[in-house]
Amino acid sequence: MKMPRTSIFFGFGVLTALAAGWLVFPRALYERREQPFRFPHKTHAEKSGTSACNDCHTLGKDGEFAGIPKTKDCATCHADRMGSSPAEALLVDNYVKRGRETPWLVYSRQPANVRFSHAIHTRLAGMTCRDCHGAEGESDAVPVYEQNRISGYSRDIWGHSISRLRRAPGDGMKMSDCENCHRRHGVDAGCLGCHE
Ligand code: HEC
Ligand code: HEC
Ligand code: HEC
Ligand code: HEC
Ligand code: HEC
Repeated sequence: MKMPRTSIFFGFGVLTALAAGWLVFPRALYERREQPFRFPHKTHAEKSGTSACNDCHTLGKDGEFAGIPKTKDCATCHADRMGSSPAEALLVDNYVKRGRETPWLVYSRQPANVRFSHAIHTRLAGMTCRDCHGAEGESDAVPVYEQNRISGYSRDIWGHSISRLRRAPGDGMKMSDCENCHRRHGVDAGCLGCHE
């Protein structure tokens, strides 16, 4: 039996629409932005003696989380260039010597009305950085930051799987991701536990 021409066209149309949805849409939806320079977590764990995450991402006794370290924290070792890497040259010449902060784009940045405490999760609940951030802390370079053109949020909030069906652990931190884990642990934070 011969296939009618219309169904061939229909099939072609469906395939084109699917390709547009799965391949073109994500590219159009996210704007790619470069970080100021390449920062290798791996090199620091191997060569600088600062293998503990806490050496740079300090969590104080009061539960205050320092986040990304300040330029002055880098200056203890990088007051002058010690190697020949172009990334280190940028750090020393543009930021350390001029006393400027590095404008890092934060992959996991939540909307302003969300509050989040690292101390509750890493100290009280004993979670590891990997549980939420994946393998970023062991990586050799900074990934490209992808910004959602509609919401303005980092892609790491939705996660990399557009359908969310093939999510890797630690990929994506939407409200439902916080709540799913809380449900598993019998935690009820209430709207005002997570929002201001
Ligand atoms: C020498 C200091 C240093 C050490 C040690 C360090 N980090 Fe970082 N970390 C940075 C800097 C600088 C950035 C900003 C650049 C970037 O995003 O990689 C960063 C960024 C991150 C981010 C990205 C946060 C976001 O959402 O943008 C994660 C996650 C992270 N570090 C986890 C870790 C973990 C886990 C460890 C321990 C295994 C660790 N770091 C050890 C300096 C450090
Ligand atoms: C305890 C010392 C120490 C601290 C603190 C430190 N670094 Fe480094 N860093 C090193 C060492 C050691 C190397 C490897 C140098 C080499 O072999 O070329 C390095 C290398 C680098 C390089 C070049 C890597 C490459 O291969 O291109 C960059 C960029 C860099 N560091 C950024 C930072 C930033 C940003 C901070 C602050 C958040 C920081 N470092 C804090 C010790 C340190
Ligand atoms: C329960 C999930 C969870 C765990 C566990 C976790 N984080 Fe985070 N992290 C987040 C969220 C959510 C944010 C964004 C917070 C915001 O935007 O207010 C974040 C933000 C960050 C940032 C960027 C902070 C900034 O504003 O500059 C760094 C760096 C970071 N985390 C490192 C770590 C490290 C290192 C560990 C392990 C010691 C860790 N995180 C454990 C969820 C987590
Ligand atoms: C466990 C933490 C948590 C709880 C509990 C929570 N939220 Fe959220 N909520 C978030 C996070 C994180 C976001 C931002 C990420 C996102 O948009 O999914 C968010 C986003 C939102 C938004 C923005 C719309 C959206 O989905 O992007 C609204 C509205 C909201 N929350 C309302 C509520 C209300 C109302 C409650 C109580 C019934 C509540 N939230 C409870 C974590 C929480
Ligand atoms: C991987 C699991 C996990 C994820 C993801 C997670 N949490 Fe939690 N959270 C916990 C656990 C477990 C506790 C209980 C800690 C304890 O008291 O021992 C908790 C406690 C809290 C509390 C305190 C609740 C209370 O009243 O005791 C708040 C607020 C909170 N989380 C906010 C968030 C927000 C906002 C997010 C998402 C951005 C998030 N959490 C993502 C596991 C998680």
